[in-house]
Amino acid sequence: MVKSSEFSGFYKLSVSDRVKFVKEFAGLTNDDEASLRQTGSLSLDVANRMIENVIGVLPIPMGIATNFLINGRDRLVPMAIEEPSVVAAASNAARMARSKGGFSTSSTEPVMIGQIQIVGVPDPHHARFEILKQKDKLIKHANEQDPVLVSLGGGARDLQVRVVDSAIGKMVIGELLVDCRDAMGANAVNTMAEAVAPMIEQVTGGNALLRIISNLAVKRLARAKAVFGNEQLGGEEVVDRILSAYAFAVADPFRCATHNKGIMNGVSAVVLATGNDTRAIEAGAHSYAARSGQYTSLTSWEKTNEGDLVGTLEMPMAVGIVGGATASNPLAKLAVKILEVKTARELAETICAVGLAQNLAALRALASEGIQRGHMTLHARNIAIGVGATGNLIDRISLQMVNERKIRVDRAKELLEQYSKP
Ligand code: MEV
Repeated sequence: MVKSSEFSGFYKLSVSDRVKFVKEFAGLTNDDEASLRQTGSLSLDVANRMIENVIGVLPIPMGIATNFLINGRDRLVPMAIEEPSVVAAASNAARMARSKGGFSTSSTEPVMIGQIQIVGVPDPHHARFEILKQKDKLIKHANEQDPVLVSLGGGARDLQVRVVDSAIGKMVIGELLVDCRDAMGANAVNTMAEAVAPMIEQVTGGNALLRIISNLAVKRLARAKAVFGNEQLGGEEVVDRILSAYAFAVADPFRCATHNKGIMNGVSAVVLATGNDTRAIEAGAHSYAARSGQYTSLTSWEKTNEGDLVGTLEMPMAVGIVGGATASNPLAKLAVKILEVKTARELAETICAVGLAQNLAALRALASEGIQRGHMTLHARNIAIGVGATGNLIDRISLQMVNERKIRVDRAKELLEQYSKP
């Protein structure tokens, strides 16, 4: 019989019945089924209320980056990531930053942009003025949608209007600027955008199509700065090599994508650990990096008069500490507790410091011995574990594979067999 994935109402099934269906479809074993039931701190019941069609939970390792001194305060930083070396690299860079005072950070108010697209307006510039004339009324109506946010000191602050030239002609784009306080804010912003859209239609005579938050959160920026002493980095020559590596990223988008990916290793790991939306942050980061029309580095690196390296990172950071997965995932809540952040801005700034640290660590490694040695040791460990090594055999096998430069499953199997012999 040909299998079909067509299933209307899959969401209506209980988790067990969904698992039963998937088990049959994909030929899962009883052990597979048991693995799906092991969900750790996030119970199936809670997971089932977070997204649709739940059958299990995917665990990701959560590590702690140490050594972070941010605005004079020590912090431990939880990072959720599957990639080896990232947590160690962040900790190492944070350690190097300490002798020159660690990281100093700042941020804008947590303001997000909600876009309302108006099409079919014959006189878009006139319409723009008409919308702006109604600004106070529109902002008031937006704020009526979320009295809780307003009571917490947030809410719609401003409204701007742009005329955008597109393939189908000029369109009018209203943009609500909403202070989201300690929430990421997508729900609040989208609700407000939807609420004011009919009023804007009335004013312009056009049709409102999209009403949605923008992830290019240029009004919600976080910043981090740190000085790395040249002696910590390994001398002025290393500083110069790092600056050459940075210049490569600025000049070439192929390198820059990887350079920024390294920054996002740190950023996304903390974003994920705290239950925030990694895709929103990634979208914001890369679109911000391309805002001039040329994709470039999110960080900047310079040499000080003393020959030290100073780095800065400024990027959109739409993260929250209330609501969303941060509220429902117990480990995300715990991550926020470990971080000891009391506001979304504090979290955003901390994440930015981690991104900067991560970039420094990558640049330093790449500009000196390369990253593969460190990477390979952990990779070898994973392979050893994968073939069934346990206890001290894991280290023995991985070390041997690294020394032989043969980090492969077949070699791991051979060594396991060899070392397991009585
Ligand atoms: C690997 O995940 C990240 C790096 O490639 C970043 C970089 O090249 O700058 C090491």
